Amino acid sequence: MDIQTIAVIGAGQMGNGIAHVAASVDYHVILLDFNEAILEKAAKTISQNLVREFKKGKIDEARKEKTLQNLQTTLELKDAVSEADLVVEAVSENEDVKTKLFSEMIPYLKEETLLASNTSSISITRLAATTDRPERFIGMHFMNPVPMMALVEIIRGFATSDETYQLIEEAVIRMGKTPCVVKDFAGFVANRILMPMINEAAFALHEGVGSIEDIDKVMMLGMAHPMGPLALADLVGLDTCLAIIRILHKEFGDSKYRPCPLLIKYVEAGWLGRKTDRGFYDYSGEYPVPTR
Ligand code: NAI
Repeated sequence: MDIQTIAVIGAGQMGNGIAHVAASVDYHVILLDFNEAILEKAAKTISQNLVREFKKGKIDEARKEKTLQNLQTTLELKDAVSEADLVVEAVSENEDVKTKLFSEMIPYLKEETLLASNTSSISITRLAATTDRPERFIGMHFMNPVPMMALVEIIRGFATSDETYQLIEEAVIRMGKTPCVVKDFAGFVANRILMPMINEAAFALHEGVGSIEDIDKVMMLGMAHPMGPLALADLVGLDTCLAIIRILHKEFGDSKYRPCPLLIKYVEAGWLGRKTDRGFYDYSGEYPVPTR
């Protein structure tokens, strides 16, 4: 089987990045979101990012135009998936939302279509088992921002076939990314390590150990992290961070993963980070300003 058409479901920050990199290596890409405003914003973001790459001399005019031509958007699930050789699911980090979406799309899929989830933490084996094709189901965990980050964690579910793995590894390499195969445990490797750090940074803030700026400064200047954990949490999305830490807590049953009450408060307030212009930092001005 040859992957030519990829459907990306969910046009948030991850979905639009995945659509961008796939279109840039000449896959035919169909991007779907059920929210029209988000879909329009995604198309605009991809176009602006291509202009930025062009201005930096990373791509030429022809590549920019071809990438845009390779990309299509739709609000209709059937239109998105019926011709797809691979569907990459990048909707919100919620198991019920993801399984409902897979069950809705299955009647429209070709028999040989591969399914991939970009989940940060949910069991690939469990998601796969709710579909009609667990052997053609795999985890494809891109990093944020997708056009800039080299890594893709590939997660094989219990039933994932060797052929599915090979095809996905080839696709990841074609997209210019480096695959890293990890086992199907909650949070895989990336978020098993990253989310407890972000959660602990929120505890440090909650307990007054340091200010937002000082916590980030310690990790940047002291540990050579390019970005502090609280700024990174804003980039990931505080709702997504909370969903992941809750999954780690539930799956491992270990109190070290209990979510920080302050992180919960931010999410309850709708302060979700960059995507809402306010999280640990306020992004509405020229420079980010700490919110506490
Ligand atoms: P987001 O909140 O930016 O986007 C999610 C999108 O899914 C929204 O646009 C929403 O309208 C759409 N959506 C929700 N249910 C839908 C449905 N049934 N049909 C169609 N569209 C639907 O979230 P983000 O950050 O893009 O995350 C998406 C997935 O990628 C999650 O599973 C997350 O854990 C994972 N991920 C996130 C990373 C990050 O840094 N934010 C990094 C790697 C993976």
